[in-house]
Amino acid sequence: MPPPRSLPAGLLAELKAALGERHVLVDPEVLAGASVDWTGRFQGPASGLVRPGSTEEVAAVVRACAAAEVPLVVQGGNTGLVGGSVPPPPEGDRPAPLVLSTRRLDAIGPVDQDAAQLTAGAGATLEAVQEAARNAGLRFGVDLAARGSATVGGMVATNAGGLHVLRYGPMRHQVVGVEAVLGDGSVVSRLGGLLKDNTGYDLSQLLVGAEGTLGVVTAVRLRLHPQPGSRAVALVGLGGTADAVALVGRLRRAGAPLSAVELCFADGVALVCRAAGLPPPFPGREPPALLVVELEGEQEPLALLEPLIEDPGVHDELTAVALDDGQAARLWAYRERHTEAVATVGVAHKLDVTLPLAELAAFEAEVREVVARVAPDATLVLFGHVGDGNLHVNVVGPPPDDDRVDDAVLRLVARFGGSISAEHGIGRAKVPWLHLSRSSAELAAMAALKRALDPAGILNPGVLLPAAPLCSTLS
Ligand code: FAD
Ligand code: MLT
Ligand code: ZN
Repeated sequence: MPPPRSLPAGLLAELKAALGERHVLVDPEVLAGASVDWTGRFQGPASGLVRPGSTEEVAAVVRACAAAEVPLVVQGGNTGLVGGSVPPPPEGDRPAPLVLSTRRLDAIGPVDQDAAQLTAGAGATLEAVQEAARNAGLRFGVDLAARGSATVGGMVATNAGGLHVLRYGPMRHQVVGVEAVLGDGSVVSRLGGLLKDNTGYDLSQLLVGAEGTLGVVTAVRLRLHPQPGSRAVALVGLGGTADAVALVGRLRRAGAPLSAVELCFADGVALVCRAAGLPPPFPGREPPALLVVELEGEQEPLALLEPLIEDPGVHDELTAVALDDGQAARLWAYRERHTEAVATVGVAHKLDVTLPLAELAAFEAEVREVVARVAPDATLVLFGHVGDGNLHVNVVGPPPDDDRVDDAVLRLVARFGGSISAEHGIGRAKVPWLHLSRSSAELAAMAALKRALDPAGILNPGVLLPAAPLCSTLS
């Protein structure tokens, strides 16, 4: 394979003139950090890192790169789990991409109390947005363990889910409007906060879940929610997935004010205990499955827990409850710390899938068999957002570029009528399997949108859709 083409003469100088010398970086140490994803499974060379500080500067970068046919990889917190935030391995004679970091776009505007909305720059972290909402007596509806690094721009791009989808929906539901720079450098801005606005295509929602392939999100108008008066959390030991699904159904029917229902299994919890130095949740007993149930509302915490405690499937000796924040954090740790615990075993193949709830238990049993057959020496750790039918299938063992286990698991998902990506997106990891969840008509429409909004094909090529040739080689 020929070496990657070097950057066209003059591009770095043009970018330095637009952004300032110190925001165009080519130092190998800086580039190394931006070239590897959080999991360590995906990496590739970058020819530079640019850090625009305004929407106009983002537009200048995109215009310059479109004219020079240099690909851009958009990077927020680099916590994505499907390889979309880092460059691909060297490809043909394409120049290695420039990484466009959004981290300087981190301003958070004042909270509009009456509308319960705020505007945040794409580079603002989830934690900063949560804090701004909390300080105004409100709450942001999405939460996930990478809150300290994940940015709202990245969360829009991936339509992040997380722990509270059950109550508030995914990122898409929090987005009132988006400002973005499209692939030709034009700016679209829908930050006015209008809840009713029937004036044609919803460009904001089109950018949600587009994984940076149609535009660089520069700012987001976000919906906020009332802060619940109280919270109770319980950790419940159960016989398995079928029991968990049935319990969730009963709690829903009983009108329990659920804000999260999260599933994990004995082997994963044992791994978390080892990796994080936590005591076993139920010493001397090892229930096959554990459910974290979070309830929030206006009643006293004990009253919130009533439908759970009274449920015939919930047993005192396998139930721990938390009535304050400290206790709640201790129970949540058994579930939240799975991602980092898995990473201590090795580089994981992270397969994030949704199934119809009625199929979840059968899928879980079969996926264990499939992984044991395809990758007999691998460590398999399952956990997920059971209220949403979302299971995270983590396989550690096969080398990063051996995708036989990915293929087997994703085909199984399709056979069960599920989706090959619940909340992490397609990134570079799942492009070959997108056809399992999308029809050829849908794929063609997506490719047409890509060509229309990113005519030079420079935004995250090879993410979500196969990379098209750069525009000068098209005709
Ligand atoms: P990055 O990783 O930087 O980028 C992700 C994708 O978005 C890339 O394709 C990138 O090109 C694109 N992108 C980033 N910023 C922009 C922008 N401004 N405009 C256009 N495109 C952009 N995800 C969940 O859904 N639920 C979870 O519960 C969850 N928990 C996690 C826990 C841990 C410990 C970790 C490490 C990750 C977790 N994730 C979870 C995955 C990750 O945090 C989310 O995908 C998050 O949305 C990524 O945000 P980011 O800023 O890090 O984006
Ligand atoms: C989670 O639910 O913890 C996240 O999606 C991260 C992961 O899958 O590892
Ligand atoms: Zn998740």
